[in-house]
Amino acid sequence: MAFVSVSDFEQKASVELEKNALDYYKSGAGEQLTLRLNREAFQRVVRLRFNLGFWLLGLLRLRPRCLRDVSQLEISCMILGHHIEFPLGIAPVAMQKMAHPVGEIGNARAAGVAGCIFILSTLATTSLEDLAAAAPETCKWFQLYIYKDRALTESLVRRAENAGFKALVLTVDAPVFGQRRDDVRNKFSLPSHLSLANFHGELASGVVSVIGGSGLSEYVVSQFDPTVTWQDIKWLKLLTHLPIIVKGVLTAEDAELAREFGCAGIIVSNHGGRQLDSTPATIEVLPEIVKAVGKDLVVMLDGGIREGNDILKALALGAQMVFIGRPSIWALACDGLRGVEQLLGLLRKDFEISMALTGCRTLADIQATMVVPESAYRRLK
Ligand code: FNR
Ligand code: LAC
Repeated sequence: MAFVSVSDFEQKASVELEKNALDYYKSGAGEQLTLRLNREAFQRVVRLRFNLGFWLLGLLRLRPRCLRDVSQLEISCMILGHHIEFPLGIAPVAMQKMAHPVGEIGNARAAGVAGCIFILSTLATTSLEDLAAAAPETCKWFQLYIYKDRALTESLVRRAENAGFKALVLTVDAPVFGQRRDDVRNKFSLPSHLSLANFHGELASGVVSVIGGSGLSEYVVSQFDPTVTWQDIKWLKLLTHLPIIVKGVLTAEDAELAREFGCAGIIVSNHGGRQLDSTPATIEVLPEIVKAVGKDLVVMLDGGIREGNDILKALALGAQMVFIGRPSIWALACDGLRGVEQLLGLLRKDFEISMALTGCRTLADIQATMVVPESAYRRLK
């Protein structure tokens, strides 16, 4: 089968994966309003604060420029001192060996081939060390969850440093886990032939439904530290020289705190709609965050990125790069490493087409004025 869009990968993966895994990967929290909104905001209805200073409602339209010689595009960029081939990376997604036996290594190697950043989850089914050894060329960041056991958390940080990870991505939207109803119904558990490979014993094999709901939620409640505050960024900064990126910021106020506490960047994210339902789509909150901290911090975004136009819209509204979560899992499930290579090639090509057709030769040519809500046109009539 020829894959020409992310949906093609998703359709095939939906047939390949067994229910416990498929439901886990695809679910959002609660009524899944935010999950849907992440997509709809790119496609359909979006509220954006425009230059005029108020919110407008409408279809998100592109305003292309023409006759601007787009024969040679320049889409590589520098992020936190690292050269990347195009402004897309792979977000941390837990337990990837449920999708394909190659697991996280497939995604990390494919990211390396494409010159993209790969973020490894704390809850990976491949250890930090094994991943680093299998994908030495890839620019790798490590996503951190803070455990109640701070010595254990510190050892994860040390291991990330030693294994050559270049940044820590601290996920801040998960003091507890959102209620993903299918996982509760399925009593989600990590299949017994797999484990959380960064850990030993109970911590590695503990994603099992004991109380009778989602085994992952039970694990999180027993292990993650819900007392974490901004002060813990200070603790983390004393522990490590790695730059700290906070993932899960949705307001200008928190973005300003991230700057105040010395973070290097933020990922505007609602965890793919899996945590608090009813939050806005990430593309909706991006403008207020860029306005607040865009000059001082690297602002990145994830949630609902599925095609070249989405990447272009996010960059136009001030993100320096974007990440994909679920698409990397669908591609992995379809064809392991090769599937993800295909996916990244396809998204790169799609982004190049978006650039050429909007008259952008370089990333700097992608301007806020290229994205307008439909109502801007209606008001002109
Ligand atoms: C995630 N995400 C996530 N985030 C994180 O910080 N640590 C993690 O371990 C995970 N695990 C995880 C598992 C699954 C199955 C999904 C779908 C997502 C969130 C992820 O990094 C990212 O924010 C979203 O997936 C982005 O949205 P899209 O691209 O999936 O729409
Ligand atoms: C999730 C994790 C593990 O969203 O962050 O399932």
